[in-house]
Formats: sequence, C-alpha cells, structure tokens
Amino acid sequence: MTTSTDRGMWGSRFAFVLAAAGSAVGLGNIWGFPTQVGRGGGAAFVIVYLFCIVMICAPILVAEIVLGRRSRQSPVGAFKFLSPGTRWWWVGAVGVVTSVGIVAFYSVIGGWTIAYVWFAASGALGGGGEAAGDFFTRFTANGWQNVLCTFIFLGMAAAANAGGVRAGIERVTTALMPALLALLVLLAVRSLTLPGAAEGLAYYMRPDFSQAFNMTIVGAALGQAFFSLSLGNGAMLTYGSYLRRSDGIGRSVLMVVALDTSIALLAGLIIFPAGFSIVGFDPASSGPGLIFAVLPQLFATLAGGTLFGGAFFILLVMAALTSAISLLEVPVAHVVDRWGWSRPKAVGLVAGSAFLLSIPCALGNGAVESLSNLAPAAWGGNFLGVVATICNNFSLPITGMLMCIFVGYVWRVDRAVEELLADNAWFPNPKLWGLLVRYVSPLAIASILLGSIMAVL
Ligand code: PFF
Repeated sequence: MTTSTDRGMWGSRFAFVLAAAGSAVGLGNIWGFPTQVGRGGGAAFVIVYLFCIVMICAPILVAEIVLGRRSRQSPVGAFKFLSPGTRWWWVGAVGVVTSVGIVAFYSVIGGWTIAYVWFAASGALGGGGEAAGDFFTRFTANGWQNVLCTFIFLGMAAAANAGGVRAGIERVTTALMPALLALLVLLAVRSLTLPGAAEGLAYYMRPDFSQAFNMTIVGAALGQAFFSLSLGNGAMLTYGSYLRRSDGIGRSVLMVVALDTSIALLAGLIIFPAGFSIVGFDPASSGPGLIFAVLPQLFATLAGGTLFGGAFFILLVMAALTSAISLLEVPVAHVVDRWGWSRPKAVGLVAGSAFLLSIPCALGNGAVESLSNLAPAAWGGNFLGVVATICNNFSLPITGMLMCIFVGYVWRVDRAVEELLADNAWFPNPKLWGLLVRYVSPLAIASILLGSIMAVL
C-alpha cells in the first residue's frame, strides 16, 4: 500500500473547492438536470430535487469528505481503516464499480458534446428548430461516429487523470467556472426574452403538486441530486482524502453545493423558455436529446451564433472532463492504494474496462435496435438509460444511505464532528448535521427507494 505522502495533497482549501466543484459541475447540471425536469413534468421535479439537495445530499457530502480526510484512503480502504474487521468496505467497493458504470455512459454524452463543438462551430446545425432534433437523432444513430467520439472523450479524461489529480484540474477549473457562469447567464437572458418564453418559465417554475408525490419522479430527483453532487460512489471521499487536516470542510461544502445547484437551475432557465418558444416542443418526449435540440435554436437567435455555440460546447466539454477525471479517480485510487499499481497502469485498466462498457451505451441510441429498446421507460429505455438508472437512481442513493448509517451508528457522529471541527474549523450546526445524518437522510432515502421500486415494478 502506498503511504499518505505518495498519494498527493491539495495545495490549499481553495484547490480542493475547485476540484470538488469541477467534479460536481458537469453534464449532470447542463444536460441531465433539464432532461430530468422535462421527463418529470417541470417545476414539481425542481422542488423535490431542491429538497433532496438540502435535506439529504448536502449532509452526506459532508460525511463523505470527513470519511476521506480522516482515513486518507480511497473508499474501500477508508472503511477498512475506520472499521477494521467488518464488511463495511463493501460500500466502498460498490462505489468503485458504480464509478466505472457512470464513466461508461458519461463518456458517450461527453462524446456528443465533443461532436457538437464541431457541428456548432462549422454551422452544420443550421438554423436549429425542429430540424435540430432530427439532426441529433440522425447523429446518435451513427454507430461508429458515436463510438469514436466516446473513445476520444474517455481518452482525454484518462490522459488527464494519468498526469495526477492535481495537475491540470486546478488551472482548468479556475478559468472554466467564471466563463461557464457568464455564458450561461447570457444565454438565460436571451432565452427569457424570446417570444413565448413565459410559457416555458411557467412550466419550469409553477409546480403541479400532484407530480411531487409520483414516486418514479421523486426517485429520479433523488438520483439526479446524488449524481449532480458526485455523491455516493466515493468521488468526494477520495478527493477528501487529499485534503489537509487544517483545511475546513464546512465552507467548501457550502460553496460546492451553491455553485452546483445554481448552474443546474440556470441550465433549466435557458432550456425551457427557449424550448417553449419552438413550436411543437414537448419536453417530456425529447429525452436525452433535449438540450441538443433546443440549444441550436437558441444560438441561431444570437448574432454570432456559431461562435457562441462553439464556445458553449467547448466549455461543456471541459466541465464534463473535470467530472470524468474525478469519476476515474475512484477506481484508479483504489487500484493504486490497494494493489500498489503505478498510476498510468491503473488508468489503463480502469479506462479500458469503462470503454468496453461504453460501447453498448454508445450503440444503443438508434444504431443497434436491440440496445436501443432494451427496457421500459421507467428503467431508462435503452442500454445507456438502464446503466444510468441503475447507477444514479439506485446504486448512489443506496451507498449514500449506508454511508449515513456508517457515520451515524458505526463510526459515530461524535468522532465525525471532532474531525469536522479539527483545528477550530468553522461548521454551521454540528448537532443538526448529526440529526440529519442519523435520522433524516437515511430514512428519507429508504422511503424514496422503496416507493420508487414499488412504482416501477
Ligand atoms: N457530478 C457530475 C455531473 O453532474 O456531471 C457527474 C459525476 C461526477 C458523478 C463524478 C459522480 C462522480 F463521482
């Protein structure tokens, strides 16, 4: 096993915040959130999502980082270190496997964004409109192009990860976040001033409360919240393991949650007003192609649209890469820490396995019929959707719940709080946090999971 000094450390608390924000902000915010809101019927989904973020996921984010910082290990090692001789390390192992599953489908969507940099900048998307949806359908049905784009995306993430977690991420994220935010605000302003935007805004902000109790939707909102905050699979635990004890956790978590949530909300503010101003737009049936159908239409209304389109997709690729790097880091750190492999060799194994799984994900969007119609819609429909549903809606919340039980009842809250407050660190309300971790989060996750399983069966 490597010693903690071989593992590397963040240079400062700010470096950790950048890396954690880089992990959290990605396709989940800009592609996943609007897609799920569209499927989930609009504002009711948004409300349930926000509830899950605040009451369930933010407290678990604190727990994950504490587990990592205290143990200085990747997920499996962390549980072995904190609870030797027990089977709790299984929670970490499920996180490692889940990370490979997420990388596999994530890389396909990352590949789409790479292709769209080219399509947007070269003017191939034309004037947008309904034709943009057809363009997306035609593109995703092209098997070899999709596999190639997936390979390029995964290759870039793997190369960056092989260079070490710190190198690159800090610099990319420092430049990325302000640029991304600025462009998103600009696009939101444009979208909100389009004719017919009010209808989209109402869909996004005026809830139909009957939907807030539809358990399939509630389950999807919980899964989306975990996915968006990179929670449950040990990515934040692993990043926390590179955090110095003198660097407080409370402020970092607040910043990451605030940034991640505002970027997701902004993405919705762009997609729905613009989408509703397109005649015949149906958010529910657009599925994973939603943003790829709506955004070209929006770019077409801007002077210099090809430039904005190209810049937007470049930023999206970068945001997706910083997330994919952190996804790879979970299994890579495991192989480096436990098996003593060199980082490049570990990256090769992990990225290679993820690529194998990503091939059916890439081919299941129209290219190969049997992979494209694999399961009922509630289970994700195609191969990519099924992998995403298993990972996001089930695996992440289950491991998240087990982490709460571990911190709340096995390792115990007082030890966690002692770690949280080390070096006189600031933390808003440790007592409330303990209550959320012990009671609210695990019970809420258990009931949502139960409800959503009964709803899909
Ligand atoms: N949070 C990322 C996003 O919203 O795009 C996805 C993700 C990254 C999930 C890292 C899990 C993870 F470990």
